[in-house]
Amino acid sequence: MATAIYSDSTDLSLYKERIKKAKKVLCFTGSGISAESGLNTFRGAKGIWKNFNPLTLATKQGYLRNPEKAWNFYQERKREYDSAEPNLAHKILAEMEGYYEKFLIATQNIDGLHQKAGNKNVIELHGNYNKYKCLKEDKPVNIEDCINDNGMPHCKCGSIIRPDVVFFGEKLEQKRFKDVYDFIYNGVDLCFIIGTRGLVAPANEIPIMANYKGAFTVDINPEISLFDDKFVDLRLKGKATEILEDIWK
Ligand code: OAD
Repeated sequence: MATAIYSDSTDLSLYKERIKKAKKVLCFTGSGISAESGLNTFRGAKGIWKNFNPLTLATKQGYLRNPEKAWNFYQERKREYDSAEPNLAHKILAEMEGYYEKFLIATQNIDGLHQKAGNKNVIELHGNYNKYKCLKEDKPVNIEDCINDNGMPHCKCGSIIRPDVVFFGEKLEQKRFKDVYDFIYNGVDLCFIIGTRGLVAPANEIPIMANYKGAFTVDINPEISLFDDKFVDLRLKGKATEILEDIWK
């Protein structure tokens, strides 16, 4: 079990060898990694949930009560995500996938920027903003096949549709969680936690599991995340782009 060492990365040389020699690497990311692509995080001063009510917009009950409002909220996110570009941190993770023998990103982000940067091995724990499902049948739908009724797309079955993202109170898709767990199960050398406060369960159990399975765990964040010192070996305080550039150069 770990005891966190706090570093501003000036003495990173001490850990570089460990990071370099790892073969199997898990990367757990949150909205902070996309902050430097101009996207807001969820909490904190400019967080999305400071300005919008998650109970209205990110629960099934809220969505059913006012689907147009929730739909417009996700369309606004879609415009932002469509125009966002991967930043240096995303790009370095794409290079890492080519460098390490085994490399998996388990992301809480729905913005698709890891794939846009070139990563292939990405599990989107909370879904993707560009995918939709029928609210009634709970099955994926193609947006082009939907019937538009006053700006609100409907499934062929007549029900309204919703973004295929995980709302509060909903379970994560079992397969996604299992695939991450399978990756971790036989041991993992290194786990990066990047840009997440670590508040949302069960996703936040992933780096803890990785640490139990032997991963040297490195938390990259300008603030202190909620991950207990017991599960973090090294805290690197700073922006994802700057810290990853230091690690990678
Ligand atoms: P939070 O807003 O809770 O946390 C964002 C974290 O990013 C904070 O710890 C910041 O300090 C950190 N951060 C900010 N700028 C950064 C930078 N340039 N580099 C590195 N880190 C930076 O967002 P998440 O942890 O992503 O759920 O939230 C988790 C989940 O809660 C989201 O996936 C979403 C939300 O409700 C769903 O959509 C289901």
